[in-house]
Amino acid sequence: MTAPGGGLTLPRILFGGDYNPEQWPREVWAEDLKLMVEAGVSLVTVGIFSWACVEPREGEYDFEWFDRVMDNLAGAGIGVSLATMTASPPPWLSHRYPQILPERADGTRLWPGARQHYCPSSPVYRQHAGRLVEQLATRYAQHPALAMWHIGNEYGCHTRQCFCDVSADDFRRWLRERYGDLDALNVAWSTTFWSQRYDDWAEIYPPRAAPTFGNPAHLLDFARFSDDAILACYQTERDILRRHSPRIPVTTNFIGLVHKPIDSYRWAAEQDVVSLDSYPDPYDPRAHVEAAFGYDLVRAARSGQPWLLMEQAPSAVNWRERNAPKPAGVMRLWSWQAVAQGADAVLFFQWRQAAGGAEKFHSAMVPHGGPDTRTYREIQALGRELAAAAEIAGTRVRVDVALLHDWDNWRAVEGAAHPAVLDLMEAHRAHYGPLFDAGISCDVVPPSADLSGYRMVVVPNLYLLRGDDARRLTEYVAGGGHLVVSFFSGIVDECERVHLGGYPAPLRDVLGLRVDEFWPLPVDGTVALDLTGLGAAGVGAAGLGAAGLDSARLDSAGVGAAGLDSARLDSAGLGAAGLGVDGLDVAGRRSRGTVWSERVETEGAEVVATFADGDLAGGPAITRHAYGRGVAWYLGTRPEPDAMRALLDRVRADAGVVPVLPGLPAGVQAVIRHGTDHAYLFLLNHGSEPARIPLPVPGVDLLGESPEPVAQVALPARGVAVLRQPTA
Ligand code: GLA
Repeated sequence: MTAPGGGLTLPRILFGGDYNPEQWPREVWAEDLKLMVEAGVSLVTVGIFSWACVEPREGEYDFEWFDRVMDNLAGAGIGVSLATMTASPPPWLSHRYPQILPERADGTRLWPGARQHYCPSSPVYRQHAGRLVEQLATRYAQHPALAMWHIGNEYGCHTRQCFCDVSADDFRRWLRERYGDLDALNVAWSTTFWSQRYDDWAEIYPPRAAPTFGNPAHLLDFARFSDDAILACYQTERDILRRHSPRIPVTTNFIGLVHKPIDSYRWAAEQDVVSLDSYPDPYDPRAHVEAAFGYDLVRAARSGQPWLLMEQAPSAVNWRERNAPKPAGVMRLWSWQAVAQGADAVLFFQWRQAAGGAEKFHSAMVPHGGPDTRTYREIQALGRELAAAAEIAGTRVRVDVALLHDWDNWRAVEGAAHPAVLDLMEAHRAHYGPLFDAGISCDVVPPSADLSGYRMVVVPNLYLLRGDDARRLTEYVAGGGHLVVSFFSGIVDECERVHLGGYPAPLRDVLGLRVDEFWPLPVDGTVALDLTGLGAAGVGAAGLGAAGLDSARLDSAGVGAAGLDSARLDSAGLGAAGLGVDGLDVAGRRSRGTVWSERVETEGAEVVATFADGDLAGGPAITRHAYGRGVAWYLGTRPEPDAMRALLDRVRADAGVVPVLPGLPAGVQAVIRHGTDHAYLFLLNHGSEPARIPLPVPGVDLLGESPEPVAQVALPARGVAVLRQPTA
């Protein structure tokens, strides 16, 4: 299963979780192994919080007990994802070297007693961590149980930025590398504003607590620096491991579902396989949509390579205000959802529920009540099912739609002193949700990604836009792409300097408009929208025809493999999915815009919706611009969900983007993973009603009783089916 650099090739979907045997007397270890084998566990992550146990005093190691754990697991045929143990420094380290402790912006020092209490820039921390990793690598690189290295744990989870003097020095070093000389920095940071001009590197500090708004470029660079400082900790350990075991893949678990301090795209490039922790809230009826977004991002972070669901809760977590257990079937459903969206591992936090410590009320695969519990029975059943579906490992999801996400933009767009306080995840939800509900899967990609394979690209509030990315978006449309851009995009460059020449200057051409003035709505305020033009712009000839939809393109885009042909696509795909129909239904209806409005002047774009009340009444709210061989849409507001759905349906009709299966009942998710010989159609019922789903192409349900292909699937609420179908 080793293929560093090129990812993992697995013979099955891995199943298991974090295993912390140090919390238990050795008598329990034997039972652990017996139950793991019984449940079909194939991979466990060991050692995450073992530093204090393997190095109880500086430089004194006790690996005897850990050898036993590794040997026992190897004996049971269970692979180990071996943690580097550096996520929680032992008490002796911070006691002897208090300079490793991190500081907040207000100068508060963060003390030991929890975990992740280290300054990422601390050379002392890195040295000690490196020394431990050397020991581990030397000792276990050849161990038969070793399947992969798990570096650190959830980097940036608790300590996201450190403002101490050590970090200040490291920040100055980082700035020197970035800018070379102070003049360049002064220009990049616009320091003539508010008399902030620097004359000496020593005058620059981390953005510690200050009287009012900080310099946005300073804040953005500090966020980049902090991410880099944490990444350097990871890299230090990774490089040691690569030296000792070049063939063993390395990963680190990203915090689910996306985490602002850590740029998953940049980090993904540093790993052999990416892994994600995912804790959707069972009390949230849209939790699966939230999770889906994270899965679409982590999959895209390494260009569609299968990823690992490194942690999820078997039932309740212990860190929300009210911690809902997962009702019967939900753990199974959400596990299969991750697999459907590209995961090749279903792993949990943690194997055995802790008897003491801060997480004793967090669920585990083996609960306090032991194996005779609902949770363990569901775990066992899932282990069996995943083993039966081993052939799915390595297959890939292919999609037609990309949604752009960018970490620099995330950090910048939510900055203070803007026309309005914006929440980028809320913006993503507003665009991603209606696509998900329409049965459309996305890749969530950075603006630098190759967009040429996508029929449609959605851009929610990409405030910070680099000039070359803007050019690539323009070329994407010119080449035949369908682009949807929401307000407050293309406003500043990578140094937070406004792109002058009329907003959004680098996108004016492709969008065919100019924004004269921002007009954010009052908090919770809305504005009436007249959507008459949305239907009138014509789905028929102008839509499908212009998109140049043909079966060859569809096949290459992977729709063919789903067993749809172009004839069916026309009738069952767009027709039955009601794409045009939904769009036309909205015509003549009014809807409301939320969050934002603005004075838009068209320069070639066609107006498809106008503001219908307030100071901007009659002005363009949504526009469509035919540009080159493609189309660019612009939203000067955030339409309410129904209107957003209608709009995106309309754009899809233009672009020829169809769901995997048309006409699915609400709440049923359908995703295909493509292999060489077969395609696997996943049907997941997130709704509360049973559903009956006819299949255009019969398939064998890998989770069902019968080896015969079925032509329809009956899915109870929370039901799952995985259908093996021939590739087209
Ligand atoms: C994170 C951590 C785990 C554990 C879980 C609890 O994912 O990585 O160590 O604390 O949260 O949900």
